[in-house]
Amino acid sequence: MSLKSRDKKHLWHPLKQHQTHPDSLAIVKAKGCHLFDEDGNSYIDAISSWYTCMYGHSNDFITKRVSEQMQSLDQIMFSDFTHEPAIELSEKLIEILPDNQNRIFFNDNGSTAVEAAIKMALQYYFNKGEKRSSFIAFENGFHGDTFGAMSVSGLSVYNGPFEDFLMTIHRIPVPDGTNTEAILNEIQTIIDSDLIAGFIYEPLVQGAAGMKIHDSKGLNEILNCFKSNDILTIADEVMTGFGKTGRYFASDHIRTKPDIICLSKALTAGQVPMAITSCTETIYKAFLGESIATGFMHCHTYSANSIACAAAIAGIELLQSDTIQKNITRISNAHKAFESRIQNHPKVKSTRSIGVILAIDLNTTAQRYGDLRDKLLAFFMKNGVFLRPLGNTIYIQPPFIISEDELDSVYKIIEDSLEIV
Ligand SMILES: Cc1ncc(COP(=O)(O)O)c(C=O)c1O
Repeated sequence: MSLKSRDKKHLWHPLKQHQTHPDSLAIVKAKGCHLFDEDGNSYIDAISSWYTCMYGHSNDFITKRVSEQMQSLDQIMFSDFTHEPAIELSEKLIEILPDNQNRIFFNDNGSTAVEAAIKMALQYYFNKGEKRSSFIAFENGFHGDTFGAMSVSGLSVYNGPFEDFLMTIHRIPVPDGTNTEAILNEIQTIIDSDLIAGFIYEPLVQGAAGMKIHDSKGLNEILNCFKSNDILTIADEVMTGFGKTGRYFASDHIRTKPDIICLSKALTAGQVPMAITSCTETIYKAFLGESIATGFMHCHTYSANSIACAAAIAGIELLQSDTIQKNITRISNAHKAFESRIQNHPKVKSTRSIGVILAIDLNTTAQRYGDLRDKLLAFFMKNGVFLRPLGNTIYIQPPFIISEDELDSVYKIIEDSLEIV
């Protein structure tokens, strides 16, 4: 029996309506930029499997380090013990994170990195004797699927059924270069009427919203406004972190730095799940005291799993290498050239890119998540490229190791796909 058939017996896939879309493609191998299915077809993974495998699938350098780690020390509790992979990873991260970050807290995935950030912000004020209960977030943001993360995300099919159970969140528009003053006024009105613990944002690029890029100057002013009102700022770099925007972190493009940063996805290069919530020393110090109750009583069993730490350390070494840095520049330049080539196409409404992220909004009246999106997805797969449109937005976020020829084939398939829009 094929894997596809066996899959249907017991499995329940995420983000899927099984009644209308019962089949799942069975992938039997993933190497470099390529996925191979059980029928012998191959696909260029042009979105790095949700922005994780940025150094290519089953990267030899990383798998060797992971395998060595597995043979010497696997999982130990991190509440009473420590180990070198976690220590080394914290040192490496602090070296590349924005200067104000000084503490590394481990989680399991992007959602729990956000969850911990929300709890950190709430308890930071609680420990100081202040009760603050609300957050401010950008409209249409996406921060994950646990309750806190769902609360701060914009309303959608992801969190709609749970709306009644979510925290109080005030949503503000993203800065577009023309509306900063209005947003600052809106923030002031919110601050005057509610006790705000934090502002959470996807810095510069809102991934799930369709790789929407916003104005860095406006974002900087918004962050300054929160800083001057003693409200913590939380950058969700789960998608943008680790070189995607052309810098190590999207926050590197913005002068004012966040108090807390959430990391996952490319952190472990697609090898094993892990996430991190980093913060400033000031936040960490607010949790010190004689009583255990002022400590951060939040833990996941697999915190700082040493195998995940080994993958992350190896990934950061690659990220810092000349080869990867040059590749990021090459991909970024290729994206700009492709944008100029297609931006006047009648089926293209607009294009945008930053670092290795490129997005194309289609000129169509089709429903956002309807037949067209499914038709495009099928077209890309039939032509050997794994691209997963976000509604009527096609985007690319390829592994940093994608070759010029492979990238050209991705561009060509996208151009060809415009004929079926
Ligand atoms: C910006 C952002 N935050 C959080 C998450 C949630 O991460 P995870 O799926 O690992 O829980 C995602 C996932 O796509 C994301 O893009």
